Amino acid sequence: MKLLSKVIVGTSCVTIFCGTAYVAALTLAPPPNYTVSNNDRLKSYDVLSVNNLYEKKTKCQEFYLGLSRWRRKMLRDEGLLRGRVLEVGAGCGGNYAYYPHSYFTEDPEVQKHLRRYWASDRVEEGARSGENATSYMLQHIVKENPCDEIILCDRSAGMVQSCVARIQNRLGYAPYRYPDYNIAAIRSTIEARLDPERSSADGAGNEAAAKTAYRKRKIVYEDGTVQEVLVTPLSGNDEAEFLVATAENAAGSTNDVIVPVLHNFDAGDKLPLLSKEDEAALAKREQDIRARQKFRLRIENQLRREEKESLVRRSTADTSLNEATSAKPHALKTPNELLDEHHNLQKQPLFAVANYAAEQLPFPDNSFDTIVDMFGLCSFDDPVRALRELSRVCKPGGRLLLIEHGKGHTGRVNNHLDKWAPRHAKNWGCWWNRDMRRIIRLSGLSVEKWESKHFGTSHYIIAKPFKSMEEWDRYDLERKREVKNAAA
Ligand SMILES: C[S@@+](CC[C@H](N)C(=O)[O-])C[C@H]1O[C@@H](n2cnc3c(N)ncnc32)[C@H](O)[C@@H]1O
Repeated sequence: MKLLSKVIVGTSCVTIFCGTAYVAALTLAPPPNYTVSNNDRLKSYDVLSVNNLYEKKTKCQEFYLGLSRWRRKMLRDEGLLRGRVLEVGAGCGGNYAYYPHSYFTEDPEVQKHLRRYWASDRVEEGARSGENATSYMLQHIVKENPCDEIILCDRSAGMVQSCVARIQNRLGYAPYRYPDYNIAAIRSTIEARLDPERSSADGAGNEAAAKTAYRKRKIVYEDGTVQEVLVTPLSGNDEAEFLVATAENAAGSTNDVIVPVLHNFDAGDKLPLLSKEDEAALAKREQDIRARQKFRLRIENQLRREEKESLVRRSTADTSLNEATSAKPHALKTPNELLDEHHNLQKQPLFAVANYAAEQLPFPDNSFDTIVDMFGLCSFDDPVRALRELSRVCKPGGRLLLIEHGKGHTGRVNNHLDKWAPRHAKNWGCWWNRDMRRIIRLSGLSVEKWESKHFGTSHYIIAKPFKSMEEWDRYDLERKREVKNAAA
């Protein structure tokens, strides 16, 4: 017993001594005197993706800091995941464990009940299936299978590959892969911008040359004041690095290209993100997902109706009404996109992957019900622009679920973060001293819930997207029309 207490005291003393020495050394050491280029920073994610290195290195820390608990709370306990889900900066797919794993049609029990409903020649059987089947389906479809699709999206090709491997190992199928960026078209757009003479030779003339000579840009300062300044279009070196990287790639190098985010495009300028064929593939996928959403809406309508009828039946002693309502058949029409050639519901994989930057997504407006981003804002080139883009693709009634880290609320902690930021960016690819409060304020999100811990450096945020009145009105109209169609 004496020996044990000696060991405990000894270990505690050593831990405290080492901890103090480490903190003292960090405080006294000179700050790093190098800068980290954006491409180097992003390349570190490709390195960290090998054998899920990123996750292995952070798992233990996250457990002790209570961040895994936050992830579980946000993605499971809060019950906020629904419909079509996009996770940006998904890394190695570490959140996989917190998502539902199958689309509801894979559940044999639910399949059994659905079969009673979907075909019109089995309507009579469906009508007789009774209240238990209804409540069972309600439980499964609405609560336990809330998602139509989960897209794990990351800008690093290595990270996307890790997500594919993880889903293949765990679920036994290859997730749907969204078409990649059209590198050739992006490259020629950048070349044209870098070389105004070429673009005038292409017929764009003096206008394009003038456009590249200077640009107006609004800068919003910390105190909220806005100033319009003139900037040269290519102030960063991303574009030049991108051209070198794509040239190397064309020469047979195995390095994956990191697509730059073009900061200085004017409003309304559109990057050629996908080729024509890929745009068609994306449109086809959108159509398939819309079919799933329509099917879910129909099921929800049907369940609501049956619930109402069952309430009426229970509250009335009139047996004639009782019989009349229970004999009324309801056919559930399944969209053709979900049926195979034998008219059976097809097995629908839930997960998909995409290799896109959060600032430039090729999805149409209002595509997603839920957007997840965990520890991404510290890594994105332009976090405010990324949040604006996420707002664009999120439906007006949808939600953004964010867990982030950044500047805290104590000067001492912030000085430490500022001093070591380049080293952290070099090793981990992220800027750990970004001001999350300012980023969220500038993005215009409506925050529903915000918790902070670890001296204000870790943030748990649930928010609604930034939308204009007009977007809301248009969306409301469309939604009403959809519900009416589904009910018809
Ligand atoms: C700190 S890791 C977070 C990984 C994961 N979300 C997690 O919680 O474990 C940041 C991820 O963002 C990705 N990333 C960096 N810049 C990005 C961008 N502009 N768009 C999308 N993803 C980006 C990186 O490749 C990396 O996988």
